[in-house]
Amino acid sequence: MSRARTAVLISGRGSNLQALIDAAADPKFPAQIVLVISNIEGVYGLERARQAGIATAVISHKGLSREDFDAKIDAALEAADVRLVCLAGFMRILSDGFARKWAGRLLNIHPSLLPAFRGVHVHEQALEAGVKFSGCTVHFVVPELDAGPIVEQAVVPVLANDTPDTLAARVLEQEHRIYPEALRLLAEGKVKLQGGRAVFA
Ligand code: GAR
Repeated sequence: MSRARTAVLISGRGSNLQALIDAAADPKFPAQIVLVISNIEGVYGLERARQAGIATAVISHKGLSREDFDAKIDAALEAADVRLVCLAGFMRILSDGFARKWAGRLLNIHPSLLPAFRGVHVHEQALEAGVKFSGCTVHFVVPELDAGPIVEQAVVPVLANDTPDTLAARVLEQEHRIYPEALRLLAEGKVKLQGGRAVFA
């Protein structure tokens, strides 16, 4: 079976990208990372991609409407014959049209147990709420922000002396574990977006 050609969209250090690159280094992994796109120049994630010999592109959102920015991303994905897309610390909101076009082939990772704590400053939100557990979620991307059907989650305890940084580090370890698992499920056709739900084979 051919491995699913996959792009990863980033905006920063790319530790989740690295987890996906590492998983895909195994020739038996059902997806291969063929393109990394960043909306910000000079971020460390781009360096990680280059070190792994993966093609990179910088597509700046500056001065572009959301639709024009997304059209450029879409064109780069099509030019590279990409089938699946993973958002990994990609800090732009995609247009409804993009989300609809890539529906079922587009995953995001979010550092909370969705539907709790959408948006930004997620760990601050969790500590403020006083929850005893937090975690991370890989979900299909739909037009509504941080709201798509859930593919994988992992739970971590919130400790009494946690700061946003210590909680983020504990959650991030789990992100690196579940994102490759979720991509594997999608690439193998073991999870599908059907009727607005994640359906598992
Ligand atoms: C990760 O914690 C990811 O879940 C989060 O940004 C971090 C990126 O780290 N994403 C979001 O908050 C998306 N709304 P990384 O660049 O090291 O993968």
